Amino acid sequence: MDIDNWIAAVLALRKAKRVVVFTGAGISAESGIPTFRDADGFWQRFPPELYATWNGLLTTVVTQPLSVAEFVLNVIEPVAKAEPNSGHQAIVRMEQRVKTTVITQNIDGLHQSAGSSEVLEVHGSLLEVSDTSAGKLVRRFERKDLMRIADCLHQYTSKKQSAETLILELQQQYPFDWMGRHRPNVVLFGDGLPEAVWAKACEAVEECDVLLSVGTSGAVYPAAMLPDNAKAAGTLVVTIDPQPRSGCWLEGDAGTVLPKLIHDTFEIQN
Ligand code: OAD
Repeated sequence: MDIDNWIAAVLALRKAKRVVVFTGAGISAESGIPTFRDADGFWQRFPPELYATWNGLLTTVVTQPLSVAEFVLNVIEPVAKAEPNSGHQAIVRMEQRVKTTVITQNIDGLHQSAGSSEVLEVHGSLLEVSDTSAGKLVRRFERKDLMRIADCLHQYTSKKQSAETLILELQQQYPFDWMGRHRPNVVLFGDGLPEAVWAKACEAVEECDVLLSVGTSGAVYPAAMLPDNAKAAGTLVVTIDPQPRSGCWLEGDAGTVLPKLIHDTFEIQN
């Protein structure tokens, strides 16, 4: 850990009036949700060209239905089982000291489960189903609802159940619209970001004094523009990640570094 970066981060956070925490898959890794681009990442097992666009998914489901069921199961089950970790909880403690906006690329709802009150989900949420033509939410899931869907999928992927039975059972769990309008409220490649959420995220970045970027490769735009915009505006960007990053980089896992940073900044007795 670079001590100069640590001190710079602590001092800037102590002075800050507004903080943005920009999070990616890395913050949820310690809650058991795999990241996308690490060596054992999600896209290694499920190539994005087949699974990460709606058209790719619809084509793959016709030719390889079992593999799509496995993909959906691998997305849903870790989120259904997940609980917030010490990284998510540290951000909630920070909110008690300084105005904090969480902007997350994650679709797992863990910041809200931890208790963060201002969370902008720029890639949507797996816990919501939206009507794409009406542009409104039709259902909000609890984690236990996702677990029921995962159970149905397990029966099918382990070949204990036919595709017909799977569809019948899923109809009990998911608000299907046979025109295909009801979709998980998640952004896949090629989709636009939710406009109102994105506008609020850009505004929060413009107004913040420090941006903490936690557990993201910064590979996916436009979300990755947010730290770039902050830097361009002269705002300190502090990056927490086990992998080397330029600038004010705090090396390590979010579940260890964030609680220590919040402790040293706000909770230490002088
Ligand atoms: P990535 O998988 O691209 O990057 C994860 C980052 O987390 C890497 O920089 C890891 O080094 C870091 N990391 C791993 N374990 C960590 C830990 N315990 N603590 C802190 N950091 C850790 O995931 P994202 O950057 O979130 O979008 O990916 C961005 C977008 O790409 C996702 O939202 C998703 C994906 O395709 C869409 O699907 C539209």
